[in-house]
Amino acid sequence: MEGYDDATYGRAFAEVYDDWYGDDPRLDDLVATVARLASSADGAVIELGAGTGRLTAPIAGLLPDRRVIALDSSIEMLDRLAARPGCERVERVHGDMIDHLPDEGLSVVLASYNTVFNLTDRERQTLLLRRVAAALGPGGHLAIETEPPLDDEEGSSVTVRHMTADTVVLAVSRQLGDQRLEGHFIELRDSADTRLRPWSIRWFDHRELVALADEAGLSLVHHGPAWPGSTGPFEVPGSPDPTHLFTRGGCGGSRLGDSVGHRLALRVPPARSAESEISRSETKPRACPLRCLLRSLF
Ligand SMILES: C[S@@+](CC[C@H](N)C(=O)[O-])C[C@H]1O[C@@H](n2cnc3c(N)ncnc32)[C@H](O)[C@@H]1O
Repeated sequence: MEGYDDATYGRAFAEVYDDWYGDDPRLDDLVATVARLASSADGAVIELGAGTGRLTAPIAGLLPDRRVIALDSSIEMLDRLAARPGCERVERVHGDMIDHLPDEGLSVVLASYNTVFNLTDRERQTLLLRRVAAALGPGGHLAIETEPPLDDEEGSSVTVRHMTADTVVLAVSRQLGDQRLEGHFIELRDSADTRLRPWSIRWFDHRELVALADEAGLSLVHHGPAWPGSTGPFEVPGSPDPTHLFTRGGCGGSRLGDSVGHRLALRVPPARSAESEISRSETKPRACPLRCLLRSLF
């Protein structure tokens, strides 16, 4: 989208982000998972594209003695994070998730809710995974959530996100090919200026993520509808399995690149245990309709 850059999303969404997306029943589970992973390795915890801190704040609360870093390309998002109770001691880094990722010493790297899709080409997504693999310390994990629109169709769509007697928010989107998708939320209010909230992503599916991670030297240890050990319910109707956990892989990576169509469940190891145990069961890959992606993520 002409005129769109890494800071555009945050500038447009910071003021509505918590109202629109703050209330998600899956957040607590993700926060608990990050805290548990951090307790089994040394080093800082970082959230990529931390936004307003809806996750960073409770993570910092559960890890009072740990360095917690919020990295985001939007100053508007980081200003909201700074004002959020619970983020007082969170280190804020204003910059790009590739260029400003610390070089080493991380115990957990969190990329929640399609944040990596904000890198709008495959090369940058690959580079990020390489940098993450290099920065993770022993026993460190990458926790990543993705909900790709696997049933995406060519063309464009307009749907209604929100409507009252004096306001309507339209969700406008179009496919650009090569897994690129962009759109606007258009807010029309009686007697007020129109607000445009643009977004632009490149999505990938589970198979591609595992292949990219494998190349980067990361091994898949969990993939499923919910984080390991969660108590649910977390299934989003019509959504694919969004949760992925990776560790730094041994030589040649995980050899799980062919695992699409399988559900991998990790039995969470005790803190500092040697091996993660993976069980596989056959499932059909599930698709996230475009309308579900628009409702839950942007
Ligand atoms: C969908 S929001 C997710 C916010 C937060 N992770 C959450 O779940 O509440 C994506 C965030 O990524 C940030 N972002 C987009 N591109 C980025 C980049 N290249 N580097 C760092 N942050 C980026 C945006 O500013 C935005 O705050």
